[in-house]
Amino acid sequence: MLSPLESAKQAAAFKAVDKHVQNNYVIGIGSGSTIVYAAERLAERVSKEKLNVVCIPTSFQAKQLIVKHDLRLGSLDTHPTVDVCIDGADEVDVNLDLIKGGGACLLQEKIVASCANNLVIIADYTKDSVKLGDQYKKGIPIEVIPMSYVPIQNKIRNRFGGDVNLRMAVAKAGPVITDNGNFILDWVNFKQSDDWNQVNTFIRMIPGVVETGLFIGMARIVYFGQADGTVKEQI
Ligand code: A5P
Repeated sequence: MLSPLESAKQAAAFKAVDKHVQNNYVIGIGSGSTIVYAAERLAERVSKEKLNVVCIPTSFQAKQLIVKHDLRLGSLDTHPTVDVCIDGADEVDVNLDLIKGGGACLLQEKIVASCANNLVIIADYTKDSVKLGDQYKKGIPIEVIPMSYVPIQNKIRNRFGGDVNLRMAVAKAGPVITDNGNFILDWVNFKQSDDWNQVNTFIRMIPGVVETGLFIGMARIVYFGQADGTVKEQI
C-alpha cells in the first residue's frame, strides 16, 4: 500500500499519461520519483492499446526507465519535435513557473521541454506554491562548468545575496557530477523576486553557467496529486 505522498505522485502521473498521450506521439520522459509512475502507466497503455510512441529521455534515469518498460527509445536527433513532455518539479508557483533540478537533471530536462509542444508537470501536493521559494527550501539548482564554480558563486551572491552551495555527493567524497559532467550549485536563502525571468537571464549570462533550474513560462498545465488520491489541475 502506498503512502499518502506516493499515492499523490501516482495519481498525478496516471492522470497526465491518460489525458495527454496519444497514438504516434513523441513523448519526453522527465526525471525524478514522480515520473516513475508515469513510465509505468505509459507502458501499460502502450501494451493494452498497442500504441506506437517514441520516448525521449531527459536523463540517464529516464533512459533506464524507458528501457526497463520496453518502450521505444528515441533521441532529439531523430525526433527533434516532441508532442508532449511529462516531467516532475520541485516547486510550482501560481504562474506555473517552476524550480527543477533536485535530481540534478535540469539541463536535459530543459532541452527536451524546449522542444515540446506541451510541457505537462506532475507533482504531489507539497510542490504547490504561491511564490517560488515558499515551499522548496533546497534552493534553485544551477548547472555549471566545474572550473567556474567559485566565480559563479561569488557573482550570484554579490548580485542577489543568499548562499550558493556546491552540491556534494552522498555516496562518494566530492561534488555531484551531472549526466553532462558538470557541477550543481544550489542557490538558497535568496530573496523572492517579482521578475524571475530577469534573474534567470542574469544568471544564465555568467560565463560557465550551463543552465538553471528556473523554468519560466514553459509549463502549460500542472497536475498536483493530493493525499487522498484526487488530482488538482492548474493551468
Ligand atoms: C530532476 O532533476 C528534477 O527536475 C525532478 O524532475 C524534480 O526534482 C521532481 O522530482 P520528484 O518527482 O522526485 O519530486
